[in-house]
Amino acid sequence: MPLPPLSLYIHVPWCIRKCPYCDFNSHAAGSELPEQAYVQALLADLQQDLPWVQARPIHSIFFGGGTPSLFSAKAYQQLFEGLQRVLTLSDDCEITLEANPGTFESNKFAAYRALGINRLSMGIQSFQPQHLKRLGRVHDGDEARRAIEIAQQAGFDNFNVDLMHGLPEQTLEQAQADLDIALSFAPPHLSWYQLTIEPNTEFYKRPPRLPEDDALWDIQEMGFARLAKAGFEHYEISAFAQHGKAARHNLNYWQFGDYLGIGAGAHGKITLASGEIIRSQKTRLPRDYLNPDKAFLSAEQRIERDDAGLECLMNALRLRQGISAQDFTDRTGLSLDAVAQPLKLAQQKGLLEVNERIYATERGQQYLNELLALFLTD
Ligand SMILES: C[S@@+](CC[C@H](N)C(=O)[O-])C[C@H]1O[C@@H](n2cnc3c(N)ncnc32)[C@H](O)[C@@H]1O
Ligand code: SF4
Repeated sequence: MPLPPLSLYIHVPWCIRKCPYCDFNSHAAGSELPEQAYVQALLADLQQDLPWVQARPIHSIFFGGGTPSLFSAKAYQQLFEGLQRVLTLSDDCEITLEANPGTFESNKFAAYRALGINRLSMGIQSFQPQHLKRLGRVHDGDEARRAIEIAQQAGFDNFNVDLMHGLPEQTLEQAQADLDIALSFAPPHLSWYQLTIEPNTEFYKRPPRLPEDDALWDIQEMGFARLAKAGFEHYEISAFAQHGKAARHNLNYWQFGDYLGIGAGAHGKITLASGEIIRSQKTRLPRDYLNPDKAFLSAEQRIERDDAGLECLMNALRLRQGISAQDFTDRTGLSLDAVAQPLKLAQQKGLLEVNERIYATERGQQYLNELLALFLTD
């Protein structure tokens, strides 16, 4: 069984302040970031994961957060030097860094590009002052526009814009204006997330007034039509890309590829030569992660064979293209017979197609939760 492609996720767990809707592993930074100590910890953490590489080149790298753009270019230079000592990056390795708009961050974009970071993912969320304020963002609409311009001038021809919709008291026209402004920069990739209220957030404790379901539906239909007209392929629930610009790193997650996860709270998924699949999780709190008396690895679980089939499909069915039957078998060690029952049921309901690929039909995409539930209850 060939091993799947291997990606690398690197988590940076600090932000200027915590946004009221965010449940990511991100923490308000103190007056000084322990950049040096963290880079050293990341490299030591990676060192322990090296047996999981199994001679594979790195297919993509993603610096996620938190706010990775709080770190200096010098910190990334040291990190790359360390990474390159122990890993081989593929020639076409996609290297993405998540950046927040703001002068402090944008001023570093050119230096990031010079280091070989070849994709920037900018967390814009909205361009409108009242929504940015309600979302607790530290940047304004002008800084958001400016950040995209600076990224383009710095030579990032591959970049993503994150926008959210269904914001507190947002109208259809406002959601449309946000999309139109983003589209005016011709981004190769756009992630358009509907705001969700997550437990353990400020918004959960004090829920804002969100648009009614009908209004949310209208916003969604408007957005899908607008993005299609602008030539975007809607390749995953919230992900839209110009042809050939789908995020390589995320595609690898969704197609049940492997990834090392280093940094506070990072998750990994690794296939061993024996065919066994394991999930790893790193120590979550930054102060514990940086404590030399504590281990980096906080949990490691084996994915049972049957669960692997269901997990693989639950990820891959988020993608319009689904997964090839061959990749399904190669990455789970299972034949399609192992998931024959839910596959058959989903086909009967018109939610799924199976030929040389397994993918959700239009109807399946529309009722994705119903489709995924068939795999959960099997
Ligand atoms: C890892 S997060 C944050 C990246 C970056 N620190 C920022 O805030 O721009 C990636 C993206 O997830 C989206 N996101 C975060 N929380 C969300 C929520 N509760 N509902 C919908 N989208 C969310 C935002 O668009 C965000 O840019
Ligand atoms: S949304 Fe981004 S900036 Fe805000 S707390 Fe979460 S990770 Fe940090």
